[in-house]
Amino acid sequence: MRLLVTGGLGFVGSNFVRRVLRLHPQWHVINFDKVTYAGNPENLKDLEDEARHTFVRGDIADPLKVDEVLRWAGVDAIVNFAAESHVDRSIMDASPFVEANIKGTQVLLDTARRHDIGRFLQVSTDEVYGSLGFDDPPFTESTPLAPNSPYSASKAAADLLVRSYFKTYGLPAVITRCSNNYGPYQFPEKLIPLMITNAMEDKPLPVYGDGLNVRDWIHVEDHCSAIEAVLTEGRPGEVYNVGADCEIRNIEIVKGVLTVLRKPDSLITYVKDRPGHDRRYAMDSTKLRQELGWTPQYDFWDVLPWIVGWYKQNEQWWRRVKSGEYRKYYEEMYGHREVAGTTAVTAGEETHR
Ligand code: NAD
Ligand code: DAU
Repeated sequence: MRLLVTGGLGFVGSNFVRRVLRLHPQWHVINFDKVTYAGNPENLKDLEDEARHTFVRGDIADPLKVDEVLRWAGVDAIVNFAAESHVDRSIMDASPFVEANIKGTQVLLDTARRHDIGRFLQVSTDEVYGSLGFDDPPFTESTPLAPNSPYSASKAAADLLVRSYFKTYGLPAVITRCSNNYGPYQFPEKLIPLMITNAMEDKPLPVYGDGLNVRDWIHVEDHCSAIEAVLTEGRPGEVYNVGADCEIRNIEIVKGVLTVLRKPDSLITYVKDRPGHDRRYAMDSTKLRQELGWTPQYDFWDVLPWIVGWYKQNEQWWRRVKSGEYRKYYEEMYGHREVAGTTAVTAGEETHR
């Protein structure tokens, strides 16, 4: 299998690339990534000498570059992780989200069609379904799309494009919609790594609103195993929800992190709420479990000490991200001059305080 993975230098994509190369000795991954602020070559530093991993810098919204890579690489399948992924950034400026998530997906779909690609997997999110009340049943694949942020609206638009390319052109496309991931190499603007790293630095832990919003958490490895299952066995034209039945209030997560690190609750700082903040997500992944036999392997509370331990052991990794130093790695590795000095946006500090 020759696989084009887009966005493979980000959090989920890098975990996926590492996983499939470990588990499938015959697979070759072409990793196509724009190297935005969220794309960190240090996430795959351990694959520097791996002959089955080829990195190509490029933008999925650039039709010439995408055509060039598909012509050259001769791939069997595409897994599209590439996206602007942070809700708070989308509230500050929606345009990069429209460009990467909508136009980028359309360019990839068109190019995949022209090159007769055998399988297109769109990595989507539970956020396209909108928000649940506390007593509502979890989202199923037939829940109507009702996105509430520019991020989730752009992901929903991309999902509809994918659907239309299956219906109109017969492109063998599948969609996965996953809940909130946690795990190694997550950019420390997202809740869990932000809380762990701030607590390690004895900085305030910004909790939006009343802290009672609920997210449905899944280990990134379980998300990646679901993508692998859908990639190899999912039915074209179908959507598969991915979730581990693990609903937790934000404040419980923050307190859990503080307990593991033996830091005081006084670090918790309630800040102004995120505008349009979705109250609750919960995923029903019965279809994926019954049709493809997938089951998640990780329990959040069992694994939380290990996750915190990973950020403790990899302090240099996140300190270089938070300081912006990580942008220099690409320049050192590939001799590229341009290094945008974007440091991590900690939304609680910079956008909604
Ligand atoms: P991330 O922000 O960590 O990584 C995104 C990656 O995409 C980066 O490497 C970035 O450089 C690259 N990228 C961005 N725009 C690009 C473009 N125009 N062309 C090529 N590369 C580009 O994101 P993540 O958390 O790893 O999420 C990956 C995908 O999974 C996204 O599509 C997201 O919507 C989806 N998802 C994430 C989660 C989660 O909890 N993290 C849950 C469900 C779905
Ligand atoms: O549900 C899947 C989605 O999960 C993915 O599609 C997105 O790409 C990913 O970013 C994530 O979105 P969320 O908005 O749920 O994740 P985030 O880590 O930004 O926030 C999780 C919850 O924590 C949310 O209710 C907002 C809250 N929060 C977040 C931050 C960064 C805080 O209270 N304080 C914070 O500083």
